[in-house]
Amino acid sequence: MKIFLDTANIQEIRDGARLGVISGVTTNPSLASAEGIGNPESYKAAVREIADIVDGPISVEVISLDAKGMIDEGREISSWIDNPWVKIPSTKDGFEAISVLSSEGIQINQTLCFSVNQAILGSQAGSTAVSPFIGRLDDIGLEGIDLIKDIVAVYKEHNIETKVLAASIRHTLHCTLAAHAGAHISTIPYKVLTQMIEHPLTATGVERFKADWEKMAGK
Ligand code: G3P
Repeated sequence: MKIFLDTANIQEIRDGARLGVISGVTTNPSLASAEGIGNPESYKAAVREIADIVDGPISVEVISLDAKGMIDEGREISSWIDNPWVKIPSTKDGFEAISVLSSEGIQINQTLCFSVNQAILGSQAGSTAVSPFIGRLDDIGLEGIDLIKDIVAVYKEHNIETKVLAASIRHTLHCTLAAHAGAHISTIPYKVLTQMIEHPLTATGVERFKADWEKMAGK
């Protein structure tokens, strides 16, 4: 399972990329706005900067809600960088936009997916990846990870090549469970990446090795 960073924060992306574990980045209007990005020009500049840091797909979301607007935005976004995945929501207009853009060779990250049926429709419309939002399903009292399991099983059953990109990941267990469920990619906040690294036994272990070595060396 590949790991993408789910952020528009340039410093977090630089810090994550240095670890050599990040294969892509996902952004959305909320993440962009949290970084003070509020218009297409600054979004474009930030996306270009991200693409210079990470060698992998960078997901950029359309703002329009109608098919024509999404198609126009998708074409524009796809000209910004070498490896864009245009994020299109799982709506009626979204499927129309996915179908048109994918037929032009534009890579699509189908976002805001909350059901197997939406994932089936996206795969037929030409989505490169589908993003089920685990955390937001948990928020309404459902088991978000079950959706990952179900989509992975259905795609496998029908040899569907659309990738399953686990999104709305809130904590490290989500990431572990998404990997177990067969997600191809998990997109995670920087905070979750740092939490995935940490283990108290690793921390005490390195301290003890260092202390023993220094004792031996007479320090
Ligand atoms: O990848 C989608 C993600 O940004 C949404 O996360 O925590 O707002 O549900 P969240």
